[in-house]
Amino acid sequence: MLGASLYSLPGRVVRRFKRLITAEQPRIPNLRGDRHIEWSWVASQVPSGQGNALDFGPGGSHLALIAAQRDFNVTAVDLEPTWWPYVHPRLRFIRGDILKLPLPKKHFDLVINCSTVEHVGLAGRYRVTESRSDGDLEAMARIRELMKPAGIMLLTIPVGQDAVFAPLTRIYGKERLPGLLDGFDVEKEVFWIKDQKNRWTLCDKETALSFKASAGSWNAKQNIYALGCFVLRKPGYEASGDFMRVSLDS
Ligand SMILES: C[S@@+](CC[C@H](N)C(=O)[O-])C[C@H]1O[C@@H](n2cnc3c(N)ncnc32)[C@H](O)[C@@H]1O
Repeated sequence: MLGASLYSLPGRVVRRFKRLITAEQPRIPNLRGDRHIEWSWVASQVPSGQGNALDFGPGGSHLALIAAQRDFNVTAVDLEPTWWPYVHPRLRFIRGDILKLPLPKKHFDLVINCSTVEHVGLAGRYRVTESRSDGDLEAMARIRELMKPAGIMLLTIPVGQDAVFAPLTRIYGKERLPGLLDGFDVEKEVFWIKDQKNRWTLCDKETALSFKASAGSWNAKQNIYALGCFVLRKPGYEASGDFMRVSLDS
């Protein structure tokens, strides 16, 4: 009966219906809600500013706006064009490659690096055209140069057993994570993993870094990894914003 009634529908509607019923079922658990974790972490850690902030790879997120509303002068840098449905006097966007743009050294008090560094140098996604197997490490070294001594970076990344799912993402585990964080002091670290009901839940570092990720699909609902959220500080004593003074005095 269903078959007979399908014949009375236009071809494109039937094709869409067939695509719907034969579509891949999402794997459980999957990445659903990953940005809820990452964005809420970054928002919770952005200090009160009056300094300079860099949002590296903002995409369509509102994290740069959060920093601007915390009184930072924010520069957001992305390879892809970005359009925000707002303007703010302390917020500007520069399109370009973090590895190549002529940005001032020792300038930034705060860096937001949310779900971005793992993509640097993986050609074939986000308009990355040049393959650089250590693009992520190069980006961290470059950003460190751009930061003031004692500046902080809010970093969120996929973690699990070390892997590269090119061109989609890198996963940071016991081998690559130390290199990524090299040259920074880790002030805080928090790890999340999905439970069998597909809910993000806090876990310890060992559990997160031992997790076997699967991230080879363009459909995020077929992928899964754990998340690492870090507050990193560039060593040094040149403080500028109020948050620097508070943490150095305490
Ligand atoms: C997954 S998106 C992250 C978006 C955003 N931070 C968020 O939290 O939703 C990664 C972003 O990094 C940007 N990106 C990747 N490599 C870059 C590079 N070398 N320089 C500047 N931006 C880069 C991409 O264009 C993309 O917008």
